[in-house]
Amino acid sequence: MKRIAIFASGSGSNTEHIAEYFSKGNLAKVEAIYCNNPKAYVIQRASRLNIPLVLFDREKFYAGDMVLRDLQLRKTDLIVLAGFLWLIPGNILRAYSDRIVNIHPALLPAYGGKGMYGMAVHEAVIQSGETESGITIHLIDEVYDKGKILLQEKCPVLPGDTPESLAEKVHRLEYEHFPKVIEKILE
Ligand code: GRF
Repeated sequence: MKRIAIFASGSGSNTEHIAEYFSKGNLAKVEAIYCNNPKAYVIQRASRLNIPLVLFDREKFYAGDMVLRDLQLRKTDLIVLAGFLWLIPGNILRAYSDRIVNIHPALLPAYGGKGMYGMAVHEAVIQSGETESGITIHLIDEVYDKGKILLQEKCPVLPGDTPESLAEKVHRLEYEHFPKVIEKILE
């Protein structure tokens, strides 16, 4: 059984979908959820799903090996970033090179980089008059949003779309494809 660690900073709806997807099979399980935000709703999801939660602050994340050691103690095979907003420190990047996968709610390389997260992404897409958006699932390396792209899926942006309605379409793509891409990596 492979072990997945999910990093999340917010609501955690992808986290929940991934955990449920793998709980139905024998390939992998979500071993722990790592979170930097004590107010994040993903914490409630973790307890409902009965998955251990590792909460840390900036200092614990960047100034030592606490998170890396915890990942290794749990024999983590793959790190999944599902709405995680901090940069991954070098010690974890090196230990898990090619084993950290991220999802971005737009078609990279457009609408990526600094400040491009959450609703800001969908607002920018609509303001630029794009006719399509979508998701990008990619590996992480030192430059954020620049690792190898594993999958992109598109959805239309229609004239009446708002950032909220676009976010909903993008989320639907995420729920459908993210667990399957993770499964492929682990196989
Ligand atoms: C998703 O849209 C993902 O693409 C982005 O952050 C959002 C997380 O949503 N990286 P949730 O917390 O899984 O609901």
